[in-house]
Amino acid sequence: MTKPRRIGVLTGGGDCPGLNAVIRAVTKTALSHEIEVLGIEDGYLGLIEGRARPLDDADVSNILTDGGTILGSSNTADPTHWRTGIDAAGEPLYADVTERCLGHLDDWGAEALVLIGGDGTMSLAQPFVEAGVSCVGVPKTIDNDVWGTDLTFGFLTAAATATDALDRVHTTAASHHRVIAVEVMGRNAGWLALHSGVASGSDVILLPEIPFSWQSICDAIERRRARGKRFTVICVSEGAAPLGGDQVVARRVEDSPDPIRLGGLAQQVALEVEQRLGVVARHVVLGHVQRGGPPIAADRVLATEFGARACQLLVEGRSGRMVARHGFDAVDIDLSEPANKQRKVPLEHPLIRAARQLATSFGD
Ligand code: F6P
Repeated sequence: MTKPRRIGVLTGGGDCPGLNAVIRAVTKTALSHEIEVLGIEDGYLGLIEGRARPLDDADVSNILTDGGTILGSSNTADPTHWRTGIDAAGEPLYADVTERCLGHLDDWGAEALVLIGGDGTMSLAQPFVEAGVSCVGVPKTIDNDVWGTDLTFGFLTAAATATDALDRVHTTAASHHRVIAVEVMGRNAGWLALHSGVASGSDVILLPEIPFSWQSICDAIERRRARGKRFTVICVSEGAAPLGGDQVVARRVEDSPDPIRLGGLAQQVALEVEQRLGVVARHVVLGHVQRGGPPIAADRVLATEFGARACQLLVEGRSGRMVARHGFDAVDIDLSEPANKQRKVPLEHPLIRAARQLATSFGD
């Protein structure tokens, strides 16, 4: 394939800091190669509904530092499973509207797509790749769980935000001699809890990858009390679960490719330790605060590197790739690789080992 004349760019899934920095890098790189750019609105939803607008230099000026995405996003639009109405019994009807999306791309003259998103967005790219559309993926998510890359942009900012919150909880927990459980996002991967937990010196860190026991958490609190430490900060990943137990589900979002929304474990942890130990315990859920706000410098750099490289691949006539980081190396991998996979924290991860050496409990 030769260099495309016009490309579409979309941001899919949950937002994260750095999306605008990628849109800016893609657009500026494309324009420098005389490639036109169309911004598709609200992720795959705009592709389904035929909503896109041209992006020029002025549109992407001064957005490097802005949180969110100027294009909007959706984490419920799946072109292969699109709700078209309801049947006579009131049940939802679904259809594959990939052809409709391809029609919109044709009408727009968009010869290639830059898809900025997580595992869901990369999985949803497959029908377009199979239909012959040149696609390049850019991995984003605060969860850092995209398979095939050691780092996604947005993660480091979210980890810094969660760390700041944990630091603040630390001083109030210490003043009131309380146990405070702080719930961080991350879905089924514990990267955010591990990094913010270690960075804040949390005493207990609960990860989805390490089933915990209530007794072990209580033992950690008691060990601290025996050493004169009358407070404990517990960093709780929303996806953690007790040994033999289930994750806490906050709600189901039926039209979403991954309908489960986790949440509520920190409250359970606070109640349980209060009942078992007779200590005063509180909980905090950081929620979407972790997804908002400006990207930190490291994420601006990564987002810019990823965006420029994604566009460069298309300039070189390469497609079906996802830009990635392996260690400090900028690489690209087959776009099908991350589809329907999640990158979890390995149990032998050096950060887990280091934290254990510092007497941090993982509740196991
Ligand atoms: O994948 C990003 C993420 O923020 C997860 O950490 C979290 O579980 C989920 O999205 C929340 O989704 P929603 O924005 O639909 O509540």
